[in-house]
Amino acid sequence: MATMSPAPAEPDVPLLEVRDLEVEFRTRDGVAKAVDRVSFSVGAGETLAVLGESGSGKSVTAQAVMGILDSPPGFVTGGQVLFRGADLLTAGAEERRRVRGARMAMIFQDALSALNPVLTVGAQLAEMFRVHEGRSRKESRAKAVELMERVRIPAARTRVNDYPHQFSGGMRQRIMIAMALALEPDLIIADEPTTALDVTVQAQVMDLLAELQREYRMGLVLITHDLGVVADVADRIAVMYAGRIMETAPVHDLYKNPAHPYTRGLLDSIPRLDRKGHELYAVKGLPPNLMAIPPGCPFHPRCPRVRDICLADRPEPAPLTGADGRELPGRTSACHFRKDELHA
Ligand SMILES: Nc1ncnc2c1ncn2[C@@H]1O[C@H](COP(=O)(O)OP(=O)(O)O)[C@@H](O)[C@H]1O
Ligand code: SF4
Ligand SMILES: [Mg+2]
Repeated sequence: MATMSPAPAEPDVPLLEVRDLEVEFRTRDGVAKAVDRVSFSVGAGETLAVLGESGSGKSVTAQAVMGILDSPPGFVTGGQVLFRGADLLTAGAEERRRVRGARMAMIFQDALSALNPVLTVGAQLAEMFRVHEGRSRKESRAKAVELMERVRIPAARTRVNDYPHQFSGGMRQRIMIAMALALEPDLIIADEPTTALDVTVQAQVMDLLAELQREYRMGLVLITHDLGVVADVADRIAVMYAGRIMETAPVHDLYKNPAHPYTRGLLDSIPRLDRKGHELYAVKGLPPNLMAIPPGCPFHPRCPRVRDICLADRPEPAPLTGADGRELPGRTSACHFRKDELHA
């Protein structure tokens, strides 16, 4: 039963549950269905990776959840965003602000455009404590230094007076993590947090984020197009394609035994040491234009296993069952032939 104020933490109410979310963009060129009946959930202390190629609707999903959708042209046209059981899409303005301002935080790909270029990082961090917690200037300043130390910025005490552009990309991303952590939120949504960084720095920032997520027991939605980065940090994965969820699974099950041809294609495209010298297999073809999503299964023009039914009937995400006929916990696939895929 949905209530308007957040229910106390009940074990069976997920921290965040997105149900049948729909977002469309209305532009001069037509209507793009960027998010189409997307459902997923994240528990407290859990990391869900949302994986998909560029243009699959990952960022738009995050923006709709956070209430920062560019509207117009974007509109949420259906679904629910339940935070501890209360729907943020229908909650009052004050309730929405409270949850999205303090209980949820977001980390973006590009820290340089997310941070204010004319304020020192210390001033920006301190402002969080002044505005949201009503702390004094001096106290807020001390908290800012403390946070910078938490995200391991060397010489935090002096660097607190520097401006965003004076930091390297990796250090800036740490500062954005610090900003997100400031109010100790229950949930962080990180949208490609390491994509713009060098590979070695990527790993360091990802490790830091994972470590802090465990320490603070936050829920984390980690959005990425890179299957390589999620293996070590995610508990579960949701695979998106053309604005829809194609497969959800605990991370190790997905790697071992994918149940959707698109997931299989993504897995085959990861460079592997034992395949050095062989040509990289990437999923053939291009993702669809969201203004003209193919009928039936949106993946059918690229699917190596396509059959007649795929061209006409849209497969919905459905639970998977094991050899003993029992449902496999946390596993769904939106493929007409999910059983064959699973046991392939
Ligand atoms: N501001 C916008 N105006 C019009 N269409 C948009 C806008 N933002 C996103 N879209 C549409 O939504 C699709 C998904 O975008 P996005 O969620 O950013 O993809 P990604 O999975 O790469 O994060 C885009 O391909 C585009 O069709
Ligand atoms: S429903 Fe058909 S086209 Fe879609 S992924 Fe499954 S086999 Fe491929
Ligand atoms: Mg994106």
